[in-house]
Amino acid sequence: MNVLILMGSPRLHGNTAELCKPFMEELKENGAEVRYVTLADKNIKPCKGCYACQEVSGEYGCCQKDDMPADDILWADLIVLATPIYAWYCAASMKNVLDRHYGFNKFYGSAEGSLWAGKKVAILATHGYDGAYATDPFEMGIQRLCKHSNLEYVGLYSVQDEDNLASFQTEEAVAGAKVFARKVLV
Ligand SMILES: Cc1cc2nc3c(=O)[nH]c(=O)nc-3n(C[C@H](O)[C@H](O)[C@H](O)COP(=O)(O)O)c2cc1C
Repeated sequence: MNVLILMGSPRLHGNTAELCKPFMEELKENGAEVRYVTLADKNIKPCKGCYACQEVSGEYGCCQKDDMPADDILWADLIVLATPIYAWYCAASMKNVLDRHYGFNKFYGSAEGSLWAGKKVAILATHGYDGAYATDPFEMGIQRLCKHSNLEYVGLYSVQDEDNLASFQTEEAVAGAKVFARKVLV
């Protein structure tokens, strides 16, 4: 399985990146082909809302030529949204990527169809508040996006930031990330 991890934290070696390590290791050990793409150090502009992509068939078709990882998304069987929870949603660089999903969904113009229907989506999150209280709004948003886009949502694994990096290096956090890796590969 081709797995794309989109890592949205501006802290490239922070909590979310730390949680990605055992997750990614387990994916590879179980035979997955993995691409790990950090977003915050890239030039990924916000969606302009111009709808130009809706007139382009068979390809992503965004008029903005920047680092939007559209080819990686098209390559992936499973897209993992790895993000700290910021203001009850994902970090800004990831929001730019999510907003720019229109190019994969040709629902609103002369172009038709979907470039990504059937792909799987999972969430790997870190957060300061407790469990579902922190992650529910983002998870609900992604579940709706998946339903709307005919993607298969396969679940969330998240760990609370109680002690900075150390929270993500505990046996429990690492084992949980590995269990989640095996779950999303099924
Ligand atoms: C600007 C900002 C906003 C945050 N907003 C939330 C929030 O809404 N809910 C929450 O549970 N934690 C929030 N946090 C805490 C982070 O999600 C948490 O510390 C996370 O593990 C940071 O991950 P990172 O090191 O990968 O960036 C926020 C942190 C920052 C810096």
